[in-house]
Amino acid sequence: MSEELQNVQVGIIGAGPAGLLLSLLLARVGITSVVLEARSRDYCEGRIRAGVLEAGTVELLDRLGLGERLHREGIVHNGVDLRFNGESHRIDLPALTGKSVMVYGQHEVVKDLIEARIAAGDPLEFEVSALSIAEVTSARPTISYRDRHGNARTVRCDFIAGCDGFHGPSRQAIPADVLRVYERVYPYAWLGILSESPAITGELIYVNHERGFALFSQRSHLVQRMYLQCAQDENIEAWPDERIWDELRARVAGNDVPDLVSGPILQRGITPMRSFVAEPMRYGNLFLAGDSAHIVPPTGAKGMNLAIADVTILAEAMRAYYADGTAHELETYSETCLRRIWKVERFSWWMTAMFHRDENDDAFGHRLQQAELDYLSTSRSAQTALAENYVGLPLRV
Ligand code: FAD
Ligand code: DHB
Repeated sequence: MSEELQNVQVGIIGAGPAGLLLSLLLARVGITSVVLEARSRDYCEGRIRAGVLEAGTVELLDRLGLGERLHREGIVHNGVDLRFNGESHRIDLPALTGKSVMVYGQHEVVKDLIEARIAAGDPLEFEVSALSIAEVTSARPTISYRDRHGNARTVRCDFIAGCDGFHGPSRQAIPADVLRVYERVYPYAWLGILSESPAITGELIYVNHERGFALFSQRSHLVQRMYLQCAQDENIEAWPDERIWDELRARVAGNDVPDLVSGPILQRGITPMRSFVAEPMRYGNLFLAGDSAHIVPPTGAKGMNLAIADVTILAEAMRAYYADGTAHELETYSETCLRRIWKVERFSWWMTAMFHRDENDDAFGHRLQQAELDYLSTSRSAQTALAENYVGLPLRV
């Protein structure tokens, strides 16, 4: 087994939205990189996760020339429905912010990014194993791994971008006495389904119901994505199709919604709910981006958008370093990202708290939740605050 050495400017770990997008942004400004991914291409392209793209994410993909399929297959959403006590309250996104969001699955974004990277002929390796990082505080850190054929390989680079998600090795490379972690685990989870069925309405519906939260979203005009609040330790076997449809119907019931039409369930899974932030996001020449540094609970659809914001800031900092020799933006990368991340953490936590039933909560907490929703349904300023977070905060806040 040969030991091969590759020299690039940036070694990127992970081919999720963060790693792939970073590689394309760097290539646009002539910075060389390699992307190393543990899973297969099929696995990455089939992983069903987030679905809502902020206005800034859509603009960025357009600027990169990746907008063609996105605009053809994505669905523009100009409003979201907040539903409680059996009634819908529409938040008009363009009227409040001048912007809208796009529903387009994360796996579709990943497919488009992989295709662009491969078309450009830049290195992207799937199914790597035994990956480890060394010498991150030196001028030339290394990434060692085995390629898909079992050959030992080493990448030597100026910078390592840890875009390897929550369970990846990058964050672990930061010494425990440097890394501070902030975390909240919620006492419930989401049961998510993908179904071949018509949309209940054309819009996203977030439901607060005494049986628990429900969310109605879409992937296309024929494929729907829906979620139900369930127990943290829920057993998916306990949810046959009929129970899922009955529960979705019970939670959305009330005025002004048509009957929910069921169809075959194509995929189902349970997502735990967590808020998590690791600081700082830079250690030596290692930079964390996306889920490797932070997690939001999914309510509000911020996870992928936040990962994309991080790498946009990181790519700009690296461009400034190579073009002008200035390290200032690299030095302030962590602070710049965290200022925005904490605001998005706040929004995701707030949306989660407002819509879910927490069995540990008392009657006082429940009344506060109702007051919060009632205020939102009547106050234009409260709606504006929600809408400007929902369509996406500016990159630098
Ligand atoms: P990831 O997409 O996790 O990519 C990291 C990549 O690194 C992966 O491909 C992984 O295989 C790779 N990797 C890990 N370890 C190694 C290693 N040792 N060597 C090489 N490669 C490695 N957000 C929402 O907004 N709405 C949702 O409905 C939603 N649902 C979700 C459901 C699930 C089950 C999960 C896990 C997340 C969900 N999210 C959701 C969050 C959103 O999908 C993430 O925020 C987003 O994927 C972050 O992108 P990323 O590139 O930072 O990380
Ligand atoms: C979706 C996921 C979310 O977390 C959300 O808030 C809205 C939509 C989705 O998967 O479509």
